[in-house]
Amino acid sequence: MNTLISLQLLLVLHLIGLALMVGTTVVEYITFKTFAKLFDTERERSCSLLYLMKKLSVLLGIGAALLIISGSGLLIITGGVFAHQVWFQIKLLLVLALILNGFMVGSRQEAKLKNSMDIDVMQSMNAIRNLKIFYLVQMGLFFTIIFLSVFKFS
Ligand code: HEM
Repeated sequence: MNTLISLQLLLVLHLIGLALMVGTTVVEYITFKTFAKLFDTERERSCSLLYLMKKLSVLLGIGAALLIISGSGLLIITGGVFAHQVWFQIKLLLVLALILNGFMVGSRQEAKLKNSMDIDVMQSMNAIRNLKIFYLVQMGLFFTIIFLSVFKFS
C-alpha cells in the first residue's frame, strides 16, 4: 500500500475516532443534565439515565483507542515532522489533560455520586455540580484540540 493511501486511511480512522469520542461526550452531557433535572423528583427514572451513561462510556473508550492508535500511525507515517511543531506539542498536552480530567475528575465524581445517592443528598449535589463543570471542560478541550489540529499554528 502506498504512503498516501495509508495516510488517508489513518486520517479516516482518526476522524471516526474523533466523531465517536466528541459525539459520545456531547450525548453523555445531555443525558447527565437530564439526570440532574430528574434527580430530586424522579429518583428511579434518573438512575436509568446513569445506567445509559455507563453503556455510552464503552463507545468513548473505542473512540479514544481509535484516536490514539491512528494518531500514532499518522505521526510515524509523516516521519515525526509534527512532533517538533508547537501546535502538536500543545495538542498532546491537551490530550493528556483530557485523559487526566476523565480519570481524576470524571470517574471519581461519578463514583462519589453513585455511592452517595441514597445516603447523602448534599454530597450528591456537590458531585452533580462538579460533573457539569467536568463535561464543559472536556468539550472545551476537544474544541481547542480540533482547532489546533486543523490550523496547525507553527
Ligand atoms: C482527543 C484527541 C484528538 C483529536 C480530537 C484529534 C483531532 C485531529 C484533527 C481534527 C486532525 C486534522 C485532520 C486533518 O488535517 O484533516 C488531526 C490530525 C492529526 N492528529 Fe490528531 N487528534 C487527537 C489525538 C491525536 C493523538 C493522540 C495523536 C498522536 C499520538 C494525533 C496525531 C495527529 C497527527 C500527526 C495529525 C496530522 C495529520 C496530517 O495532517 O497529516 N492526534 N487530529
